[in-house]
Amino acid sequence: MCGIVGYAGQRRAQPILIDCLKRLEYRGYDSAGIAVVGKDLQLFKSEGEIAVLEGKMPEMDGGLGIAHTRWATQGKPTTENAHPFADCSNRFAIVHNGIISNFMDLKDKLLADGHVFSSETDTEVFAHLVESEFEGDLLEAVRSAVARVEGTYAFAVVAKDGDGIVATRRESPLVVGLGNGENFIASDVTALLKHTNKMLFIEDGEVVRVTKDSVTVVDAAGNEVRREPHKVAWTLEDAEKGGYPHFMLKEIYEQPSAIHDSLLGRVESLDAEPFFSSGAFSSVKIVACGTSYHAGLVGKYIIEELAKIPTTVQISSEYRYSSAPRENPLIVLVTQSGETLDTMAAAREARRRGNRTVAIANVMGSAITREVDHVIYTRAGPEIGVAATKTFVTQLVALYILAMDLGTQSRTLSALAKRAVIGQLRSLPRAVQDVLNKAPEIEALAKKYHASRDMFFIGRNINYPVALEGALKTKEISYIHGEGFPAGELKHGPLALISKDSPVVAIAVKDHTYGKMLGNISEVSARGSPVIAIGFEGDTELEKYADDVLYIREIPPLFSPVPVVVALQLFSYYLARERGCPIDKPRNIAKTVTVD
Ligand code: F6R
Repeated sequence: MCGIVGYAGQRRAQPILIDCLKRLEYRGYDSAGIAVVGKDLQLFKSEGEIAVLEGKMPEMDGGLGIAHTRWATQGKPTTENAHPFADCSNRFAIVHNGIISNFMDLKDKLLADGHVFSSETDTEVFAHLVESEFEGDLLEAVRSAVARVEGTYAFAVVAKDGDGIVATRRESPLVVGLGNGENFIASDVTALLKHTNKMLFIEDGEVVRVTKDSVTVVDAAGNEVRREPHKVAWTLEDAEKGGYPHFMLKEIYEQPSAIHDSLLGRVESLDAEPFFSSGAFSSVKIVACGTSYHAGLVGKYIIEELAKIPTTVQISSEYRYSSAPRENPLIVLVTQSGETLDTMAAAREARRRGNRTVAIANVMGSAITREVDHVIYTRAGPEIGVAATKTFVTQLVALYILAMDLGTQSRTLSALAKRAVIGQLRSLPRAVQDVLNKAPEIEALAKKYHASRDMFFIGRNINYPVALEGALKTKEISYIHGEGFPAGELKHGPLALISKDSPVVAIAVKDHTYGKMLGNISEVSARGSPVIAIGFEGDTELEKYADDVLYIREIPPLFSPVPVVVALQLFSYYLARERGCPIDKPRNIAKTVTVD
């Protein structure tokens, strides 16, 4: 998974491309490169982050170019394997996001035809394919070249004697930004918000030619396609750090307003249009990866509580290869990016099985939105930090509302109960703000425990998935080995790992499992583990059991995952900061996983 950008206009392309590319760094950051068409085709690439490229590259002239930031899949993260790639004659430069699955076959044929390769990547074959298909028209050459490619891709190509970019996609995102006397292409709208909010989303199989004053889209058969551009509501400010040291911290602090925005117009009245008019379902299956999977696990408790519909949750990469049982569930695909390959494949599998599908997605116009029957947008705004925070919380909000709709439609949720749920949802921004106000206390806890090598997170019932999410955040950004467990499982194995060097974070809000949780805290304390408990304000009993207690305002347990997870996000953030980790860009991972 990588990020690509392109510019065609009257200004110097080089600084614009680098600036746009930096906004895509969350997609990968092990190497980067740029190609600009001026008097000649100038190409420069480098191992490392975009800042390294920026520091080393020569000045390039010209108002046309493409650039790339890479997250290695095929070939090591070296300068040779960085994009763009040129063909043998240095006439064409190309960048790619995706995987060419038949590249070995293609490479053998191209080698036999005398082409010379300079890298280990799958991508380089495309530069040579364009070279061999070119008969005077770059768009036609790209159309013929992609016809020979299997796999996933967004490609962008420039030619040394051309005046535009030709780009195409299959399953990898590609958007065209429309400016005045200049046009852009990118993997994601956030790269372009500084310059325009008028976007044209390119569909699978389409090829687009972008010059400074024209944008032409053709379908796979070569027929011109006309489509109205979208006006994206996100602003540049949404996509910048706004004074915070890290995107992750900014995004954690944006959660009260993200929740508020996600509710707006959706819970105005009891008689509002159903969020998702679905008909009745006898079961629901939620399918997702990573943090979105954890949101799905919380969603199971919410849907079963509010709608009384049996709900299962499966990781996308497992669901897509599982056998189809004799049931017809509503399939809910949860994905921030809307581009995660396994979740996309799961959506297709669900449709193949004849199931109704609904996606909970954050990125407008993202690939999954074209694969499903219905889309619920989370309205979290752009999330740049690799660690998902505000998108998790808004996914939960979407799941509460979905559960309310399902409950209303299946008549398991009374008007009175629904009114109470709406009231609780409206109070969530304040509950989250209360946790944010405790940041100094959470920071102090992180200072106390940041040197730990291992850390365990335990919870029960609806807060069990929140323990998993706390562990994921911690391992992902602080590199402390974090493990989450249902507290009841401790004695079935994990207790063997407990020691005085492995703090345990215990979510101990007052619900029907509270007494059992106190028992679990005693079990770990007895074995010498320091315990950090998260409980409701006023619960002084917890202080007898735990070494440290973090209090959150009391709310009905069904809604407690929202403030609890915010406390865990802040805790992992400060742990990572104390340990000097690159918080927004943790090693080895990228935000959008378009490989399986
Ligand atoms: C962790 C994280 C990942 C994503 C996962 C799914 O902080 O961000 O685990 O949740 O890669 O991504 P989406 O939601 O885009 O499908």
